[in-house]
Amino acid sequence: MASGRKRWFVYGTLVVVTALATVGVAALLQNIATRKAESQLVAFPIVKLDETTIDPAEWGKNFPRQYDGYIRTADNERTRFGGSEAMSLRPEDPKKPESKLEADPNLKVMFNGYAFALDYRERRGHAFMLHDQRETDRVKLKPQPGACLNCHASNVVAFREAGVKNGAPGALTDPLLSAHGQAQLFKGFEVVNAMPYNDATKLVEHPVTCLDCHDPGTLRLRITKPAFIEGIRALAESNEPVPHLPSVEQWRKTDRSKAYDPNELASRQEMRSLSCAQCHVEYHFAGEGKRLTFPWSNGLKVEQIEAHYNAVGWTDFVQKDSGSPVIKAQHPEFELWSQGIHARSGVSCADCHMPYKREGAIKVSEHQVRSPLLNVARSCQTCHNYTETEIKERVETIQARTYDLMMRAEEATVAAIFAIQRAKAAGVSEEALKVAHGLHRKAQFRTDFINAENSMGFHAPQEAARILGEAIDYARQAQLAATEAMNPVKTTAK
Ligand code: HEC
Ligand code: HEC
Ligand code: HEC
Ligand code: HEC
Ligand code: HEC
Repeated sequence: MASGRKRWFVYGTLVVVTALATVGVAALLQNIATRKAESQLVAFPIVKLDETTIDPAEWGKNFPRQYDGYIRTADNERTRFGGSEAMSLRPEDPKKPESKLEADPNLKVMFNGYAFALDYRERRGHAFMLHDQRETDRVKLKPQPGACLNCHASNVVAFREAGVKNGAPGALTDPLLSAHGQAQLFKGFEVVNAMPYNDATKLVEHPVTCLDCHDPGTLRLRITKPAFIEGIRALAESNEPVPHLPSVEQWRKTDRSKAYDPNELASRQEMRSLSCAQCHVEYHFAGEGKRLTFPWSNGLKVEQIEAHYNAVGWTDFVQKDSGSPVIKAQHPEFELWSQGIHARSGVSCADCHMPYKREGAIKVSEHQVRSPLLNVARSCQTCHNYTETEIKERVETIQARTYDLMMRAEEATVAAIFAIQRAKAAGVSEEALKVAHGLHRKAQFRTDFINAENSMGFHAPQEAARILGEAIDYARQAQLAATEAMNPVKTTAK
């Protein structure tokens, strides 16, 4: 009897265990199947997206993971030289990021006479781009053109609407890359650039959104900013070697009867950088129409950009103390990255700033675009087999060296400015100061190029040091030239 009960117990347990196991295996299989299906599914189409869907929340219904990262670009977290600027602690502007001018008084001197001396702050996440532009004293106290909006708003639809209103053919639902779509975009670009900022900004509502980087049907990356299309064409036509942009090199081997078009020719890996290069670049507004223009007709290096400006006779402002006509650099991330080892090795902006993350079986690109140092595991350790501490220290070493050299370049530039000012005060003629003005212009553009670039030298450490070395030399030459103009060395020819 006892043994019979025992047998039943054993059988019973077996049955239950088997049943459980079967359920377990089935569940596992089911889970694997779902995950496989999940990983093949790019989209869970809930809403229909088209060329007029500007609102990122609509896209978010189909792509909740990317949307979630995107809205988190509003978060603030600092690193030593970057990261997102936490709110200023200064009582006079509690809601704005930290002022670069208060942190570094050399900049107040260098930019004296220009709007940047009024208000110049640390950058922060994409969520703030439109707000921060509307709120800066550079816009509030100085008249600015609609061209400012190119890199601070979701403006594809606004441009196309303005294009259609001004005679461009077709409808807003035409694919952006169709002939009509492009005609609308470029016509609107021309019209909006020339508008006063305060009118133009009423045409837009969102910072950069999904539609500005993606095709609403296929989700493929695409270029939507006219200035970039024109800039990269000029670069392609320049013959300056760009080994990090293979599709440009490839195009140069054709008969060139059709202009280089990144939307047709760039590889997916190239697009992972070019989509950022629509905005993270040096620029100026050319002519009466304030056409946003990227100065790349000779190449992407600082002296090639300077040569472009000299050829078209461009000056941003006259530095007030010295009277020198100078150029203001702005965020040349793409240009500096182009000179570095990562670009040369095919590592894109998105590889570091939008690394993949796994969510279930799905590989998602991190849409919380921010400092890679806040996420070293996914941004760097996928390629570099060092500890997080080691990687961070390598970056900080590069950045601290760049910073120290940059401070010397700034001080040398400021010394040049005051030497020229003293010479003027002593009555030296403008004619006699021409050489000093020219050298000051060179020094200031180089110093500013590295200051305005946002990686503190990391994107191309050697190139950053080369540029700063030249800056220091030109600044001291300018100082010397001014001093000599003031106290001409008497040649005692007999
Ligand atoms: C190999 C990785 C890598 C690549 C590739 C790369 N970056 Fe960076 N980037 C960095 C690091 C590291 C920093 C410094 C971050 C810091 O100091 O917190 C940085 C800083 C920046 C910053 C300032 C960020 C901040 O938090 O203040 C911007 C903007 C930026 N990069 C844009 C770009 C663009 C645009 C490209 C492509 C043209 C690019 N980066 C390519 C690693 C990279
Ligand atoms: C439409 C123009 C535009 C495009 C396209 C764009 N950016 Fe930006 N980006 C900006 C502006 C403007 C800011 C500064 C916003 C502010 O300070 O209010 C910014 C800020 C940043 C920052 C600083 C974030 C922080 O937390 O401080 C990083 C990093 C960055 N961008 C990287 C990228 C990368 C990588 C790409 C490509 C995947 C890209 N951006 C594409 C305009 C753009
Ligand atoms: C070619 C693209 C581009 C154009 C055109 C552009 N910006 Fe920006 N702007 C950026 C990028 C990228 C950043 C973030 C990097 C940085 O702060 O250096 C930025 C940052 C800013 C910031 C925040 C940091 C600061 O400088 O105080 C303000 C404000 C700003 N821009 C205002 C303007 C105004 C005003 C104009 C027109 C005169 C303008 N921008 C035109 C790309 C652009
Ligand atoms: C500044 C440009 C930019 C913006 C804005 C942007 N994305 Fe992306 N997105 C990228 C890049 C770069 C990739 C990587 C694409 C690749 O490797 O082909 C990507 C990839 C994707 C993918 C493919 C799957 C993945 O995660 O790699 C989806 C889906 C996507 N984005 C949705 C969105 C949505 C939704 C929004 C708006 C909430 C958005 N993106 C805004 C640049 C952007
Ligand atoms: C997709 C791969 C990849 C990623 C991601 C990547 N790197 Fe690199 N990195 C490379 C390659 C390739 C080199 C060139 C050295 C070589 O060929 O061995 C390099 C070189 C470097 C160097 C030497 C730089 C120099 O100028 O000599 C440093 C420092 C570095 N990486 C830091 C980083 C950091 C920090 C990150 C993350 C923000 C990062 N890397 C992300 C591939 C990568």
